[in-house]
Amino acid sequence: MTSAASENAKVQSIRLVIFGRQGAGKGTQCARLSEHYQITHVSTGDMLRGAADAGTPFGLQAKEIMDRGELVPDDVMIGLVNERLHEDDCSHGFLLDGFPRTLDQVDALEELLAPASVQLALNLDVPEDVVMDRMLARGREDDTPDAIRKRLDLYEAQTAPLLHWYSDRDLALRIDGVGTEDEVAQRLVNAIDSFLQLENS
Ligand code: AP5
Ligand code: MG
Repeated sequence: MTSAASENAKVQSIRLVIFGRQGAGKGTQCARLSEHYQITHVSTGDMLRGAADAGTPFGLQAKEIMDRGELVPDDVMIGLVNERLHEDDCSHGFLLDGFPRTLDQVDALEELLAPASVQLALNLDVPEDVVMDRMLARGREDDTPDAIRKRLDLYEAQTAPLLHWYSDRDLALRIDGVGTEDEVAQRLVNAIDSFLQLENS
């Protein structure tokens, strides 16, 4: 996964968000992209699970919500991400996974990045039947059939419409998320490299 554009990308600030149904492979691919482009992977789900594992009152409350397949309230998530993006390791770019999930979160993110903005919203597209199989095979604590169903319905109702917000501004890019992890990673890198080349030309 090397190319001149990728090399350039490593020294500049990149502000990306990644969308995709639950189980689409966002976390899996972000780990690779984070290493490839040397940018920080900020996963709100991982942050909440970290707090739950630490047993803080906030973490335990978040765990209850996650186990029900519901969304943690916007004000809580916005506060959390605001703090995280101000940390030093985000100053050279970040890859946001799991945020924004509602229109209020989109607005808050734009406010917090102003006068800059999200550069690219990647939509990792994987059909429902495939993500269902992947999640049941993974078996995370919130991967019960009921919670998965609820999360997928919430994604369609609340999060998928955000893609329109980004596509209306020519910022959204669909990536086929079906295939091996290597194949999907290569598609993502090709798409990001092309975008960066255009930005720099
Ligand atoms: P979050 O952690 O974001 O979970 P999610 O949206 O359900 O997404 P997943 O992490 O399940 O899927 P993924 O796309 O990362 O897939 P993965 O790489 O693991 O959020 C959890 C909860 O936190 C939410 O339900 C909510 O309650 C709360 N929350 C978080 N952010 C919030 C926010 N902003 N606002 C409000 N609430 C918030 O891959 C899945 C599996 O597939 C893995 O086993 C993997 O090994 C496998 N796999 C990956 N790629 C492939 C491939 N190409 N082929 C075959 N298998 C693959
Ligand atoms: Mg994830």
